[in-house]
Amino acid sequence: MPLPVLAVASEAYPLIKTGGLADVVGALPAALRPHGVEVTTLIPGYPKVLGALGPGETVARFADLFGGPAAVIATELDGADFLVLDAPHLYARGGGPYGGPDGRDWTDNAQRFAALGFVANEIAHGAAGMPLPAVVHLHDWQAGLAAAYIAHDPRPRPKMVATIHNIAFQGWFPASLAAELRLPPEAMSVDGVEYYGGVGFLKSALYHADRVTTVSPTYACEILEPDGGVGLDGLLAGRAATVSGILNGIDTQVWNPATDPRLPARFSAENLSGRAENRRALAERFGLESDRLTFGVVSRLSVQKGLDLLAGAAPLILELGANLALIGAGDLWLEDRYAALSLENPGRIGTFIGYDEDLAHLMQAGADAILVPSRFEPCGLTQLCALRYGAVPVVARVGGLADTVIDANPAGLAAGVATGVQFSPVGQPALESALRRTAALWAAKDEWAKLQANGMASDVSWNASARAYADMFRRLAG
Ligand code: ADP
Ligand code: GLC
Repeated sequence: MPLPVLAVASEAYPLIKTGGLADVVGALPAALRPHGVEVTTLIPGYPKVLGALGPGETVARFADLFGGPAAVIATELDGADFLVLDAPHLYARGGGPYGGPDGRDWTDNAQRFAALGFVANEIAHGAAGMPLPAVVHLHDWQAGLAAAYIAHDPRPRPKMVATIHNIAFQGWFPASLAAELRLPPEAMSVDGVEYYGGVGFLKSALYHADRVTTVSPTYACEILEPDGGVGLDGLLAGRAATVSGILNGIDTQVWNPATDPRLPARFSAENLSGRAENRRALAERFGLESDRLTFGVVSRLSVQKGLDLLAGAAPLILELGANLALIGAGDLWLEDRYAALSLENPGRIGTFIGYDEDLAHLMQAGADAILVPSRFEPCGLTQLCALRYGAVPVVARVGGLADTVIDANPAGLAAGVATGVQFSPVGQPALESALRRTAALWAAKDEWAKLQANGMASDVSWNASARAYADMFRRLAG
């Protein structure tokens, strides 16, 4: 018997994506199916989502869902089952999933994502006609309040798993909203959703879930400490036996250099020759001198990602005779900083400010090394793409970056297992020493080829992790 699971999330690739959360929510259902787990994913009906999905069937209606009527539409995309919450008063607007075109958060995000959780609870009790889920899988703070609605509902409840993709985003709102969000008074307790005097969406999930997971084993340890847990470390440390890390994978069909239709030339671990053409295409696209070591970045531009440190290391990159190519969007001051760096260093530093999937694939296929100097990184997906595409990852030794890259230190090189370069502590000096080390490895062509070969042989698929999720769901479901 397949095990029915209801996943609840604010993003799912390819419907709507601002980061790795969407990749994970989009890829996990297909990876779980061979393990007998049937996932249905509930997501908000943003215009982009409704536009991308076919018409579907209305399976539930709500006359008044926090200020307006709403419907749940059941539909399918590439074999994956979706329930879309169509609530025009909450979601039918321009801008992104969390904020307007001006970059500011929507002022009614509490209602927008409480509605998602409220409806998840109704669906978990049969409102949408799907088989009653054995497990409800809540992703990040946007799904978090579902845990409170489920916990306070007198009907028999499903098991709950809360997955933290980034604990820095917690969904905190004033306590005065509690009644409007239809939380029973008893929910507003420290043993519940109350968090620093307000309503804590992520807190609610972490308190009520039967299991808490995050997206790498190292991050699962980091969030038990004050620096990593950002206020929630105490709660998590108190239930540490139920907290674990399951590494993300990537969709190895979307990310397959041997078949990738977005690349000028395809290649494989057995025959890397096509890489040279991608290298040339990348250099041309970014106006770079093509014979130099080229460092690449594909990232949100934020302090989390350590890209201010990398900007500080730009003079060293030039001194090493290397190039830098960056694709990113995010904080304006970082966008400006990189735009200026490329204007000042034509031929050596190239920047594309914006979001572009095709270019992200070209970067992975054409850059020699991919830099991920994050201050913290729950898992990180770009280093996994890099491994698969023969770009050597150069990463901070934190979170999932620590768990997915084997450093080319003396032990790693002697054992012949290194796949990249790691540095620690996260700061400009250690980053610069990693850049120097990378340049030396690149110059020693045989060592570089070995790093590429080891990286391309790494298993970055969902196989092992899907099994781990499936086993956990089954154990919980009994
Ligand atoms: P995060 O979710 O913290 O942003 P991840 O590494 O987990 O970081 O996931 C980022 C995802 O978004 C990857 O699939 C990456 O390729 C993609 N990505 C990030 N920035 C861009 C961009 N500017 N253009 C295209 N893809 C991007
Ligand atoms: C978050 C994290 C990133 C992780 C992604 C998917 O956005 O910042 O490290 O890979 O979620 O789990």
